[in-house]
Amino acid sequence: MDLWIPRKIRNRKTPYRVLALKYRPQNFDELIGQDALVRTLKNAIETGRLANAYMLTGVRGVGKTTTARIIAKALNYKGPDGTSGPTTGPTDDCALCQAIAQDRHPDVMEMDAASRTGVDDIREILDGVRYAPSEARYKIYIIDEVHMLSKNAFNALLKTLEEPPPHVKFIFATTEIRKVPVTVLSRCQRFDLRRVDIPTLQKHFTSICEKESVTADEEAVSLIARAADGSVRDGLSLLDQAMALGNGKVEIEQVQDMLGLSDRGRSLDLLEAALKGDTAASLGVFDEMIERGGDPLTIIQDLLELTHLLSRLRAVPDGGLGAAGLNPDFATRLSELSGKLSMPSLAKSWQILLKGVSEVQTAPSPSGAAEMILIRLAYAADLPDPAELIRKLKEGGSLDATAQKKTELGSAGHSAPPRCHVPLGTPGLYRPLTGNTAAIIL
Ligand SMILES: Nc1ncnc2c1ncn2[C@@H]1O[C@H](COP(=O)(O)OP(=O)(O)OP(=O)(O)O)[C@@H](O)[C@H]1O
Ligand SMILES: [Mg+2]
Repeated sequence: MDLWIPRKIRNRKTPYRVLALKYRPQNFDELIGQDALVRTLKNAIETGRLANAYMLTGVRGVGKTTTARIIAKALNYKGPDGTSGPTTGPTDDCALCQAIAQDRHPDVMEMDAASRTGVDDIREILDGVRYAPSEARYKIYIIDEVHMLSKNAFNALLKTLEEPPPHVKFIFATTEIRKVPVTVLSRCQRFDLRRVDIPTLQKHFTSICEKESVTADEEAVSLIARAADGSVRDGLSLLDQAMALGNGKVEIEQVQDMLGLSDRGRSLDLLEAALKGDTAASLGVFDEMIERGGDPLTIIQDLLELTHLLSRLRAVPDGGLGAAGLNPDFATRLSELSGKLSMPSLAKSWQILLKGVSEVQTAPSPSGAAEMILIRLAYAADLPDPAELIRKLKEGGSLDATAQKKTELGSAGHSAPPRCHVPLGTPGLYRPLTGNTAAIIL
């Protein structure tokens, strides 16, 4: 039976390659977000101060395997005429480097320690170490996921690692550096690859969209950059998916649906209503978000993240957002709201939401649990914070916390009954303690 294949795909000369592979950096200058590593390695190569072994560590998808291959090419570069020395620049004009990039050069061996963990596998490598490279300058052994090697396999490596023949270099990559014995670590030059920050990821993804002739919303790309959590590969996989969904366009609504995210603006409406103590409004927004396919857990996690951003802004009004990668309108709204909230009330909201996340995860009805959290937030907004309480007690006035919160936030309405309008000294409610403290007994 003939399978029908769309003409657009039938006419394609080369098969589709996922973005992460298509845009794998081929030299140091193309690596993003790893400036310290690039600087050190470039200096080492230019001055010829090369270590016997390198250990590259970092979370998934930040460039460990990529860097290992770049080092292998840079050290073996011979140029188009076969006479040049090692380089830190592009290596595309060298036939040897092309063979390395295509993983078909016998002098550069890449081994996956996750599938070959035993001492015999290492012995196999060590047997070949004695022989000089066939064509390249260095024989390079790249051992990926090195933490998976067995104890015996590590021990078998030690001697060669300490004093390898001058034509041999080892490059190890791992996500779990703690599982690598110190004896091995002390024989390697270690590089910690960083999580890539949001603005850098955003710039990278935007340039890839341009190269792929895909129109992309700035906000959608920013969302993907945030969801990538510092991993370039995670971000590129998400971008691939978004491009497939949007059929040549990357739009905010689609990305939000894809990530199961609710609209951030709506999340802020929800948080603002709850912090004002406006239960009806907050439950209204919540119902609407759920109707639009929002996930209760994601909504509560979003509120938690917003509370964190508001607290940062409250603590450091200028530049408190750091590298959060927010769009300017949203950032302005956040900073206006943070100016109206007190730090204790933000801290209180954080505690309620943090506890709320696990409650939503374990509750039989996640949306019911999320509603309970919103109600709790709205009611907690009415309670005076300890400093305010002490001040009021000292002044000997009444504790009309609701009214005070409303003026703070410019509230338009309040559905919850005020519960703190209690004159001082009402028996059973407030028990003044000695000194500057007071306890609330509810
Ligand atoms: N620093 C970076 N700059 C540019 N692209 C990167 C970077 N890091 C990763 N990538 C992209 O992610 C892909 C995967 O990177 P790589 O295989 O090097 O990750 P890794 O750190 O080895 O991850 P893992 O721990 O999962 O093996 C690359 O093909 C490239 O497209
Ligand atoms: Mg890897």
